[in-house]
Amino acid sequence: MRTKVVIIGAGPAGLLLGRLLENQGIETVILERRSRDYVLGRIRAGVLEQGTVELLEQAGVSGRMQAEGLIHDGVELSFDGDAHRFDFRELVGRTVMVYGQTEVTRDLMLARDASGATTIYEAENVALHAFDGDKPRVTYLKDGTEHEISCDFIAGCDGYHGVSRASVPENALRTFERVYPFGWLGILVDRPPVADELIYAHHSRGFALCSMRSPTRSRYYVQVSTDEKVEDWSDDRFWDELRRRLNDETAGRLLTGPSIEKSIAPLRSFVAEPLRFGRLFLAGDAAHIVPPTGAKGLNLAASDVRYLAEALIEYYEERSSAGIDAYSARALTRVWKAERFSWWMTSILHTFPDTDAFGRRMQRTEFDYLVSSEAASRSLAENYTGLPF
Ligand code: APR
Ligand code: PHB
Repeated sequence: MRTKVVIIGAGPAGLLLGRLLENQGIETVILERRSRDYVLGRIRAGVLEQGTVELLEQAGVSGRMQAEGLIHDGVELSFDGDAHRFDFRELVGRTVMVYGQTEVTRDLMLARDASGATTIYEAENVALHAFDGDKPRVTYLKDGTEHEISCDFIAGCDGYHGVSRASVPENALRTFERVYPFGWLGILVDRPPVADELIYAHHSRGFALCSMRSPTRSRYYVQVSTDEKVEDWSDDRFWDELRRRLNDETAGRLLTGPSIEKSIAPLRSFVAEPLRFGRLFLAGDAAHIVPPTGAKGLNLAASDVRYLAEALIEYYEERSSAGIDAYSARALTRVWKAERFSWWMTSILHTFPDTDAFGRRMQRTEFDYLVSSEAASRSLAENYTGLPF
């Protein structure tokens, strides 16, 4: 088989890249290790920056999002019970859209089905070849038979554990990493959210987040230590812990119910540089991870893909390599800023096992400064709603 661009991974990064390229008549094949249902079963964050919303509109996959997504004008940060609302519209004239990543993925999958483009699910042993030359190839096993695709470019959109980054010679890659000494225990429940907007709460027992998927479905998280096991968390234990970390007024309004999903996710910051190796490009979680505080994961995948799609379209339409040559540096500039914001929000809102009294006062003072300074509030709003592309 032959195609122009082989995309590894049918997460939001791979599917969105496929969509943007197919819209310009650039043929792609997506190879995905898992089944379609498995991909759609993953629960992830649900806050879209305005730029991500605009990109989905431009890609022609925004119909359901526009109908069902919730526009949020602000968020609440609470510190040991003292709550403050940051009004994004007032501070920076921007908003965010609450719409689950799973739904974004589903919309992209349906659009790809309708376009007739090829997606191969349950592709095993995906291997990348000769991407340092001008005739890259990808091989994979499907139903026990080996297949080969030759292409012009390979896009590694296969997440943190994927094969693409792992195929790059070690000495060509520089990585930066911080692993946080805690995780997030998350619960999904069919009850209306406790508030109209998200609440990020610092508490001496640990961070908590009140989020949502719709007016009737809520998503809540509590910080837990890395050795906690999800089996040890009954729903009742979760709700008790969450209530203790919220202020009395919010805790009093919380509507609890049986969980429909419960899982623990570790927190990590990670960046690999560069994002291009000959004819292989990395995008999304394959190249970088942010801790979920600030919900930048999907948004960063979207901005990488936007730069990469522009670059590949320029290559095919204008026979110019300028865009693909600039891709890595362009994407990384924005990646690092989102890494900074996610790390910073994580640092002020969580309880760190090794922090001394001075460190705790610094966290509190960060909060007081944010609340009292319009400049600091605007900086939070600017980053949360998304830095420019
Ligand atoms: N071969 C083929 N596909 C693979 C392989 C492989 N060897 N390894 C992984 N994959 C697939 C995964 O099964 C997954 O469906 O690549 C896809 C990667 O998707 P995501 O992990 O969702 O990553 P990405 O598309 O970059 O989306 C970033 O997802 O993890 C969240 O917080 C993150 O919101 C961000 C978003
Ligand atoms: C979520 O709804 O899952 C969510 C929202 C905001 C975050 C992280 C996760 O910062």
